Amino acid sequence: MKIDSKNFIIDGLNTKVLAKKYSTPLYCYSFSKIKENITKFTHSFKELNPIICFAVKANSNKTLLGEINKLGLGADVVSIGELTKAIKSGINPKKIVFSGVGKTADEISFAIKKRILLINAESKSEILQIEKIAKKQNKIVNIGIRLNPNTDANTIDQISTGKKENKFGVSEKIFLDLVKYSKNSKYLNLKCLSVHIGSQILELKPYEKMLKIVNKVIKKTNYNFEYIDLGGGMGINYENNYKQLNLKGYCKSIIKNLKNYKSKIIFEPGRFIIGNSGFLISKIIYIKEGHKKDFIILDAAMNDLMRPALYNAKHKIIPVNKNKKKSKKIYEFVGPICESTDKFSSLTKFQKLNEKDLIIICDVGAYGMSLSSNYNLRPKATEILIKNSKVKVISKRQSLKDLM
Ligand code: LLP
Repeated sequence: MKIDSKNFIIDGLNTKVLAKKYSTPLYCYSFSKIKENITKFTHSFKELNPIICFAVKANSNKTLLGEINKLGLGADVVSIGELTKAIKSGINPKKIVFSGVGKTADEISFAIKKRILLINAESKSEILQIEKIAKKQNKIVNIGIRLNPNTDANTIDQISTGKKENKFGVSEKIFLDLVKYSKNSKYLNLKCLSVHIGSQILELKPYEKMLKIVNKVIKKTNYNFEYIDLGGGMGINYENNYKQLNLKGYCKSIIKNLKNYKSKIIFEPGRFIIGNSGFLISKIIYIKEGHKKDFIILDAAMNDLMRPALYNAKHKIIPVNKNKKKSKKIYEFVGPICESTDKFSSLTKFQKLNEKDLIIICDVGAYGMSLSSNYNLRPKATEILIKNSKVKVISKRQSLKDLM
């Protein structure tokens, strides 16, 4: 991918031309960036030769899933919707793992019928439910059990999942009980220990802590797990401080901590694969003078990109028309939605902007479109994929009719 600072070229295409042709707000993905991320991920963990299951919740566009499949990844899904779409996009069920604390009987039944790689169970009740359905279908089902390692991921609280107060996984004690139970079941084939401590993790320490606990717990079970599913969570750099997770260090730490086992490693990365491949192009509708600041009112809003409103997440904003003038006032980038949280960023010394100018919100490939909604009855944006300098519309903007 190349973003030329004067022309804002994404993979050979001028964003101004794209905005004109497809209108705004416009989600735009770079295929070369997705490929680069997958290569980097695979390369960093090559000693492990892991199974990489893309977390579909990060982005569930069917064309993108198809491309990710062609680049060799499987899928981590959390609903019958995601599972169906992953299969429809070409992903082999043998490369699909199913996570989540509340899988319904219908979802479990469907997953069993599709013979997916693993259902990662998160409670005793779920294991009993899987067993009951397996018995009814007279099948032996491959399962994992998700351990809650009580490890702080050191990330935003709302996306932390590995502490004992979180709803995810089971404690060590329950884990050991469930291993015993599953071992003796005629319908369950316990194959995996799974764990996922949170998202947007940039430090190695939480992972190292988690690995020590995983090792300790596996030792106690004295059981040969065919797989250890370490989840996802690998963070990306949303700001300009170049802070990055040391993937190779993580790989070394896995080898060091889990060297006693022959288990195959599974990863479930979402954000790392697709986060920085997405750009949201938006047009300034109005510039409104406020108290000590100017509101830059965009045609994109929190329904298009929820992360700032939900987690106070920061995404870089870049003007498309470069000039050398600096604004004396603070610019507050907001959307048209009737909520004060419909705000992307407050920036000082931003370059001077004018009404109708275009801006680009960066790194929106993960949890951008997938978290979008029709709030305020706003249509979902068009999504395009740029591959080999060609544009493909991968999801059309909803029409008013779609919303009625
Ligand atoms: N595996 C499991 C079991 C998960 O719960 C998640 C994310 C992943 C894998 C993928 O995590 P990733 O590699 O993408 O960090 N909406 C939030 C993120 C929520 C993540 C939920 N679970 C955000 O926009 O930051």
